[in-house]
Amino acid sequence: MFQINENYQKLPGSYLFSTIAKKVNAYQAANPDANIIRLGIGDVTQPIAPAIIEAMHKAVDEMGHAETFRGYAPDLGYDFLRKAIADNDYRARGCDISEDEIFVSDGAKSDSANIQELFSANSRIAVCDPVYPVYVDSNVMAGRTGSYDKEKETWSDVIYMPCTAENNFVPEFPKETPDMIYLCLPNNPTGTTLTKSQLQEWVDYANKVGAVIIYDAAYEAYISESDVAHSIYECEGARTCAIELRSFSKNAGFTGVRLGFTVVPKDLKCGEVSLNAMWARRHGTKFNGAPYIVQRAGEAVYSDAGKAQLKEQVAYYMNNAKTIKEGLAAAGYTVFGGVNAPYIWLKTPSGMTSWEFFDFLLEKANVVGTPGSGFGPSGEGYFRLTAFGNYENTVRALERIKAL
Ligand code: MLT
Repeated sequence: MFQINENYQKLPGSYLFSTIAKKVNAYQAANPDANIIRLGIGDVTQPIAPAIIEAMHKAVDEMGHAETFRGYAPDLGYDFLRKAIADNDYRARGCDISEDEIFVSDGAKSDSANIQELFSANSRIAVCDPVYPVYVDSNVMAGRTGSYDKEKETWSDVIYMPCTAENNFVPEFPKETPDMIYLCLPNNPTGTTLTKSQLQEWVDYANKVGAVIIYDAAYEAYISESDVAHSIYECEGARTCAIELRSFSKNAGFTGVRLGFTVVPKDLKCGEVSLNAMWARRHGTKFNGAPYIVQRAGEAVYSDAGKAQLKEQVAYYMNNAKTIKEGLAAAGYTVFGGVNAPYIWLKTPSGMTSWEFFDFLLEKANVVGTPGSGFGPSGEGYFRLTAFGNYENTVRALERIKAL
């Protein structure tokens, strides 16, 4: 008789955004006339920029001719894209990252879930609390998190680093020494971030204790303040302790196109073993490369026209963030984030729990957000709204919230 991976049985409930989608669909079915505005999952709404569409069309045409047709993509990514990434995201910012340290993938979600495979089963992970659920859930599936405490909603073998208004959303170094530290900056879900010097302290700490930082920089395009690092490799010493995950979803609207990459520096080693070589081995075995058409689309993100168009798109979403933040503050809410990230993190009013506020907002305003407690126990009493809606809906949602 076959046996299953029992670790899956330990996972509580379903994936956060699936639970929300189910609740919203049930509400819509019961209230077919309700005009629901979705500011829950961080899914983009603006169309793909023209320069990128043009590049995709061209690549589609190439696929229709024998001379220019492409089959399997190189499993680590086409050179043209790896070079564009190295030049624009790293060398242009003074970071010492080369093409062969960049691994192109189908997105940061899968990379952030898969990267834990490189580490031993008994590695201790440290996560910010609240946290993007994929980091914890993927380690649960791998059997690395111990047992679940239903009351506290925590795992016995996970080190939680609370990030709340009380500590300005800056995680403190944990008392126990972790082996893997997940940092998402600018942060999902709180929309806050660390300064470059605060990040440098984490790099120094990781090098000192021999931990690896899994650095999720999916929201770097939204950074507006100059003392915030766009890449962890802007910090000295990061090449020996950090893996960086990047996405094209949020900066270029690729949530439905799928493209991302992971940087594993060659200086990142466990004894003599190179993690770069391990990730290459993993990628080669388990992944057949992102599609040519999509990688050409990714290349166009770095063209002059692409850059200009995407700057406008980011500004559009950040105008939504400003509208939400200022509107909520004027209505008496306590709000955070929204300056270097497209997420607004607010305190729920009148002592409501995160899920109570979710239901209240859905029923009374027909607005969907994300309950803070879905991201971890320290998210209780908070709520997330995304700036990725369209402007008209964002304004309409705020009017409804203000009228409550
Ligand atoms: C979110 O809403 O947190 C994100 O959209 C989830 C994701 O990027 O996978």
